[in-house]
Amino acid sequence: MRTQVGIVGAGPAGLLLSHLLALRGIDSIVVEDRSRAYCEARHRAGVLEDGTVRLLRETGVSRRLDQQGLEHGGIYLQFAGERHHLDFRALTGGRTVTVYAQTEVVKDLIEERLARGLQLEFEVTDTEVDHLDTDHPVLRYTDGGGTRREVVCDAIAGCDGFHGITRQRIPPELLTTRERDYPYAWLGILADVPPSTDELIYAHHPDGFALHSLRSCKVSRLYLQVDPDESIDNWPDSRIWDELQRRFEFPGWSLMEGPVLDKSITPMRSFVTTPMRYGRLFLAGDAAHIVPPTGAKGLNLAMADVTALAPALSQLLKGNPVLADAYTATCLNRVWRSTHFSWWMTTMLHRTPGADAMEAELQLSQLRYVVSSPAAATSLAENYTGYPELRLIDDED
Ligand code: FAD
Ligand code: PHB
Repeated sequence: MRTQVGIVGAGPAGLLLSHLLALRGIDSIVVEDRSRAYCEARHRAGVLEDGTVRLLRETGVSRRLDQQGLEHGGIYLQFAGERHHLDFRALTGGRTVTVYAQTEVVKDLIEERLARGLQLEFEVTDTEVDHLDTDHPVLRYTDGGGTRREVVCDAIAGCDGFHGITRQRIPPELLTTRERDYPYAWLGILADVPPSTDELIYAHHPDGFALHSLRSCKVSRLYLQVDPDESIDNWPDSRIWDELQRRFEFPGWSLMEGPVLDKSITPMRSFVTTPMRYGRLFLAGDAAHIVPPTGAKGLNLAMADVTALAPALSQLLKGNPVLADAYTATCLNRVWRSTHFSWWMTTMLHRTPGADAMEAELQLSQLRYVVSSPAAATSLAENYTGYPELRLIDDED
């Protein structure tokens, strides 16, 4: 088999890349080791930056996003018994974010790909990439029917997430990795209850961080800081709600409870690996970098990578390597900004196990500064809504 770009992974990065390539008339195949149903039901991100929304609109995959996405003009920060609103529109000259679940983005992109009759294979096994330092790298996999396939490509995109196989094909002596684990994790639930808030609440509490997000007018998404080695079995629904009630407690406001539809624990990590390219292999999204979820950056970063990768591949296939050669540097600027912002939000808002009273006071001082200084609030708002603003790169740029 022959194609122009072999894409490993049907997460947001791989699916959006295949779409951006199709718009440029470039052939690709996407291979995914999970089932379609699994990919469409994997609960993760929920907040899209305004640049990500514009990108999905301008490339024609925003029909449901335009109907169902909830535009938010700010967030609440809660600490020391106070709840403050940060007004992103006022602070950034009108910029917003949109609450629209990653599951829905993935569904929309899968539907678009299949409606165009383009190749997308689920439930593949034994994915391999080879001959990466030649002009014709090879993608091998066993398809859902058990047949071993080999696809000769012009380039391969490693969009297979943090635990994928493509990053490991870059010789270790060429890779630089920067990494930080955090001494806590997030327990996340999806609850069949209308959100108790109009915008997200990020709560700093002596017992730990809590986040009230949402998925729709009827479904809430809530997170609790827990120990990194916590087992979900120790968290019956009643204990989760009790803890959420305690951390969000605020006079004159109450948190509505409802049936828990899904619950899971996610570790927190910052991870950046460079280069994002080796020969004709290009990494994008979580395959190259991970941020802790506190800044809502991971999905947006994955989308930004492939926004740079699509024109780079298009030019490379026409014989012009300039954008491909610049790919790592182009992405890293935003990657490090998001990595810093996510680390800053995370360390400002979580309780650090074993921290002394000095550290607790420093956190509170930082929070007070953010809600009282327009300069500090603007910095949070411009990062949260997306910095630098995402620009669609024209192939001729
Ligand atoms: P993935 O979504 O991980 O996709 C990779 C795909 O590759 C997967 O489908 C996987 O099955 C497949 N794959 C792996 N190995 C192979 C193989 N060998 N062969 C074939 N396929 C393979 N980000 C935000 O922007 N905003 C948020 O609000 C936010 N909240 C989050 C909350 C939580 C609890 C978590 C866990 C994450 C959150 N994120 C958020 C991060 C976001 O979900 C990720 O950054 C995003 O999924 C990255 O997309 P990706 O396509 O790079 O990787
Ligand atoms: C989510 O809705 O899943 C979400 C929102 C904001 C974050 C992280 C996750 O910072």
